[in-house]
Amino acid sequence: MHYHYYYQKYPYLNYNFRDTDGLYRMFSIPPKMLAAEFENTFSYRPKTFFDCGAATGVIVWLALRAGMDARGIDIKKYPYQFSCYDELFRNGNIQIKSILDCEPIVADIVFCNGTLTYFSEKELPKVLDKFRNSKMICAIHNTTEDVEAATANGDELTTCNKTRLIKPQNWWMDTFTKKGFNTKYAEHIRCFCAVPSHGA
Ligand SMILES: C[S@@+](CC[C@H](N)C(=O)[O-])C[C@H]1O[C@@H](n2cnc3c(N)ncnc32)[C@H](O)[C@@H]1O
Repeated sequence: MHYHYYYQKYPYLNYNFRDTDGLYRMFSIPPKMLAAEFENTFSYRPKTFFDCGAATGVIVWLALRAGMDARGIDIKKYPYQFSCYDELFRNGNIQIKSILDCEPIVADIVFCNGTLTYFSEKELPKVLDKFRNSKMICAIHNTTEDVEAATANGDELTTCNKTRLIKPQNWWMDTFTKKGFNTKYAEHIRCFCAVPSHGA
């Protein structure tokens, strides 16, 4: 039995979604696991959650169910929406806009699943600036190492839209650090966790 690289890397949560050009599978991290990582770091439970790149709304919905005040944005409105998540778009929990057009985000957890790879190197610092007033930024995305590991596993990595930034893991750590975040890679959930170091 062959398991796609993504199944090995993110085994906890995956779901199908449909785009104009076909059916895809999204791999992600359950908000509950991100909340546990937050609690490990700060010794209290996160209250607010912001999904930067909320796509069809699954993660915002799960974060609400996990008891957090959750909202999100996405630059794109997906054409086929699960009806159970419609409400999130209608009531404004999820807005269609770019993170670059948002006010600074104030949330305990900011989740960026793949989203940071949609920007150019020049734009990325502007995105990270939006998160300076948040407590913890959780980012997952393909790195150069992922692309190599997937190829060795006989797989091709696909993304739901076009990405621009595929960089080594250390590049991401350095970039966050240079922008004034204390960054660690939480191995057990395969997630970059960055905490703004105020006054840096
Ligand atoms: C891999 S999906 C994440 C889905 C969901 N958060 C999850 O974890 O299951 C990444 C999303 O980032 C969105 N995105 C790309 N550029 C963006 C921008 N400038 N502002 C907001 N969202 C953006 C894409 O449209 C895409 O839906």
